[in-house]
Amino acid sequence: MNNSLVMSGGIDWMKQRRIVRPQIHRQRLAMLTELMVHAIDEALVSWERSADLSTFNVAPAFNELTLKVLSRTLFGKGPYKEEMNKVLKALDYTMNYILRAIILSSWPSWVPLGRKKFEKSIRQIDETVYQMIADGCNNNGAENHLIAMLLDTVDDETSEGLTEQELRDEVITLLLAGFEICSNALAWACDFLTHRPDVMEKLHAEVDAVLGDRLPTFNDLMKLRYSRMVLHETLSLRPSVWQLPRIATQDEEVDRQHSPAGMTLISMLHACHYHPDEGQNPGCFQPEKPANPRKFAYLPFGIGERSCIGKDFVLMEGQLALAMIAQRYTLTKTSESLAQPQLFFALQPKGGVRVKLEKRS
Ligand code: HEM
Repeated sequence: MNNSLVMSGGIDWMKQRRIVRPQIHRQRLAMLTELMVHAIDEALVSWERSADLSTFNVAPAFNELTLKVLSRTLFGKGPYKEEMNKVLKALDYTMNYILRAIILSSWPSWVPLGRKKFEKSIRQIDETVYQMIADGCNNNGAENHLIAMLLDTVDDETSEGLTEQELRDEVITLLLAGFEICSNALAWACDFLTHRPDVMEKLHAEVDAVLGDRLPTFNDLMKLRYSRMVLHETLSLRPSVWQLPRIATQDEEVDRQHSPAGMTLISMLHACHYHPDEGQNPGCFQPEKPANPRKFAYLPFGIGERSCIGKDFVLMEGQLALAMIAQRYTLTKTSESLAQPQLFFALQPKGGVRVKLEKRS
């Protein structure tokens, strides 16, 4: 994914951002609402088997849900469960290999790092992703998916579209970004909800008033304000992307520390959101608290020209998922304490989030 939006820089990055960003912007997303809602609906039907059991781990369940949403919105059909799992497993190996290769770069070259398996993983990713793209392109009748939108678009400035290789890189980026990070955010939201029955009650009241028993539409999103507030507060207390690395382009003075050009600086979002200056009760789950007017006080999607282009996508997915869960279920806690945060690629709940799931009558 060296040339994908998330990894590239300079002219390549600008071109890809100009092409990809409008496709996952709010207006275009309206066309994806139905695909998203049906994918979430199917995932939640399968939760029924776990209703009224003593515990249900929502973390793996959200992996399934976000994978379903991704395959439908990207390719128009799916779930492609087997293919997606194959790609994600191969990606996991390649990311770990790259990390190992960087850390152990000073070791002699004969030390086995698993290069053969790395090359095999890349071939596996290529084969599967190119096949899924081809299937998506031949998906007669369903043309409102992201692959079709990306293929149809050209850059206003250069009149160029994405090449086959760029499209493959973007699909991999969207798979990586849209799967694990979103799944973790939703699991954290459920962790907070089970520990705050008053918030759960307000969520129930909102969905009962706005939706009743029917499936949500794009126009309902504006009315489901509390669901969105729950999501924002979750991302504030548990920012799924927990660090923003930047390379200093010139010598800088940061917090009275000298940072020479070329040095990597890392902003820890957790520390920004929990800063004692940023509210009376930092760390306490308060969906209703007024938005902080200070520019760098809330950054779950980053800031500036490299900020998240999937923000509208994930806010829509998260808002719909939380509202549809609240429509059907009451979640209660199975432990007195919140899950332990674990730092990995995304901020994960260690061991998942176990809840008791009761079907609402
Ligand atoms: C809860 C979910 C998500 C969170 C918290 C999140 C957060 C972030 C953050 C903080 C950045 C900026 C990284 C930086 O500045 O170094 C970022 C970049 C990015 N995100 Fe997300 N993201 C989420 C979901 C998504 C989704 C669903 C997509 C795609 C559908 C996506 C696509 C991207 C891309 C392509 C970039 C790189 C943009 C660039 O470099 O120009 N993200 N994300």
